[in-house]
Amino acid sequence: MEIVETISSLREIRPKLAEPVGFVPTMGYLHEGHLSLVRQARTENHSVVVSIFVNPTQFGPSEDYERYPRDAERDFELLEKERTDVIFMPQAAEMYPPRFDTWVNVGAITERLEGESRPEHFRGVTTVVAKLFNIVQPNNAYFGQKDAQQVLVLKKMVADLNMNLKIVTLPTVREADGLAMSSRNAYLNPEERRASLILYQTLKLAQKLYTEGEGNAVYLRQEMLTLIEQEPLVKVNYVSVADIETLEELDSITSPALVSLAVKIGNTRLIDNIMLK
Ligand code: PAJ
Repeated sequence: MEIVETISSLREIRPKLAEPVGFVPTMGYLHEGHLSLVRQARTENHSVVVSIFVNPTQFGPSEDYERYPRDAERDFELLEKERTDVIFMPQAAEMYPPRFDTWVNVGAITERLEGESRPEHFRGVTTVVAKLFNIVQPNNAYFGQKDAQQVLVLKKMVADLNMNLKIVTLPTVREADGLAMSSRNAYLNPEERRASLILYQTLKLAQKLYTEGEGNAVYLRQEMLTLIEQEPLVKVNYVSVADIETLEELDSITSPALVSLAVKIGNTRLIDNIMLK
């Protein structure tokens, strides 16, 4: 396994990697969700590249960029076990040198849900992922359904800009009690960790009502809100039942729907989602 910190050394290695090359972009502090992507990349490619880069441009000014959890040594060990070929771990100045001033902007779907709560977040994500794709030149890139809107936005970027790679999406990996794995779960104290269970319970309520025949999305959102607001430690950011392609809020579920929510528990912002088909 090679650990590479500069774009120029990655460019030297790239032609020597056997194709197809699978790529897993991450911000590190790896958990089983990340590792599920690496494992899939390993089975589908001859070479696997993983990036670890806490991308400053996707964090808002009052967000957790500085305190985002980091543990490079542990990440290296985990990736070594998964037979990763190359770790790309640049410094912020390598990716964003002085006077950096070019941005990738995807349109309407970035303005909803996460985009409403986190202006410029997706601009940061698409810009860094476009740069990483240009640097690594993967054949396949792996992303988690945990960040459902991120996957939609990146697929749109790849299609609209004719990027020559395939995006593979894998299911959300959860803790035994249902909480979606996230590097940010490390922020939760025991009481908050207990309260966090309400996220998945709320999604499962929507699933249950839908399976029982409820197709009224307005009613589903109401029922979800009523349940989630019973947890006093949770502050709801949004509860959404939206069209899976446009992310427009639905009145009735006639096409596949994305049920998603974002909350704050203490200072920690958590998101989760399921799909209704
Ligand atoms: P990060 O939050 O580190 O996540 C890296 C990848 O792991 C993303 O594709 C994310 O969806 C996936 N992932 C996270 N938790 C998961 C879970 N519980 N189950 C399955 N997959 C999971 O997402 C980012 O980093 C950044 O925005 C990035 C794409 C790297 C750009 O900076």
